[in-house]
Amino acid sequence: MSRVHDALRKAEGTFGMSTPLSGGMPGPGNLAAPDSGSLHGLLEQVKEIPWDPAAEAHLIDATKPHEGPMEEFRSLRTRLNHLQGIQPLHTLVVTSASPAEGKSFTASNLAVVQSHLQGQSVLLCDFDFRRPIVHNLFKIDRSPGLTEYLQGKASLSEVIRRVEGTNLYLAPAGSAVINPLELLNLKEVRLLIERLPSIFNWVILDSPPLLFAADANLLATLCDGTLLVVRLGQTTIDAVTRALGGMSHNNVIGVVANAAKRGELYSKYTYYHNYYYSDEKQPVNEDGEVVPVPSAAEPEQPPARKADSDSD
Ligand SMILES: Nc1ncnc2c1ncn2[C@@H]1O[C@H](COP(=O)(O)OP(=O)(O)O)[C@@H](O)[C@H]1O
Ligand SMILES: [Mg+2]
Repeated sequence: MSRVHDALRKAEGTFGMSTPLSGGMPGPGNLAAPDSGSLHGLLEQVKEIPWDPAAEAHLIDATKPHEGPMEEFRSLRTRLNHLQGIQPLHTLVVTSASPAEGKSFTASNLAVVQSHLQGQSVLLCDFDFRRPIVHNLFKIDRSPGLTEYLQGKASLSEVIRRVEGTNLYLAPAGSAVINPLELLNLKEVRLLIERLPSIFNWVILDSPPLLFAADANLLATLCDGTLLVVRLGQTTIDAVTRALGGMSHNNVIGVVANAAKRGELYSKYTYYHNYYYSDEKQPVNEDGEVVPVPSAAEPEQPPARKADSDSD
């Protein structure tokens, strides 16, 4: 965490701090038990949807490997797959201290990049029942979704969609409910999260911010690991410290430094900056604990680098 703290400190000195508030949890909630049982045959039943993400979603595209933060997400993927090889790690909550730090951006792009690997089925679940966004990013219907499933109003095969011709599956949030935390406390949530890895290699959960609701804290207790997103120039050290301190089960396996300028976490005077950015060598993935994700809109700098090759 020390590099994250360093980066945050540096960012605090450079930018003013602001943490916009989120809120709102309207809608009815009828808590009937969903179905339970084997997931055998589920993937053959799910509906297919086209790959047609919203332009403003900044989702990486396999056909444009040099656009956006593809390299950084591949690096994150490599680290996670390496960890998966040495510890049980299939269910992952993506969260952050506060709103608008890039949880959904990170969760979605991570799911997309994981699904690029052959034979790797990935499910992206929108467990942010307060501010769900996955359905907008992928331009799919919000319902039926997880809230309908948990209320026994829809089957899992109706909720999950497959992106045509890929190994990427999506479970949108579903209709709004009055009390998301009540729904998340159902034993069916735990059963679902336990069962999904029988058919998906990665189950990635988008979630609300830790400091604004107990949802992500609860989800973290049910998952194998938590990925903490910090947004440089926005997230404060104090917020990260409070968010981590409030976790009942701190299973944070990594920190994503979102919206970093390329090379920002490595001073231009250090060995690493020169190694990574000043010559034509392949970038090395496995060093350090922070994965910097630059702004999707930021041009690559410097542009001259050899083509990516996947080291997973
Ligand atoms: N690295 C990035 N580059 C460009 N846009 C980003 C980046 N990270 C987040 N965003 C944008 O910032 C906004 C908030 O991100 P989002 O992932 O929805 O935050 P959260 O889920 O934490 O509330 C979105 O419009 C998203 O597209
Ligand atoms: Mg979000």
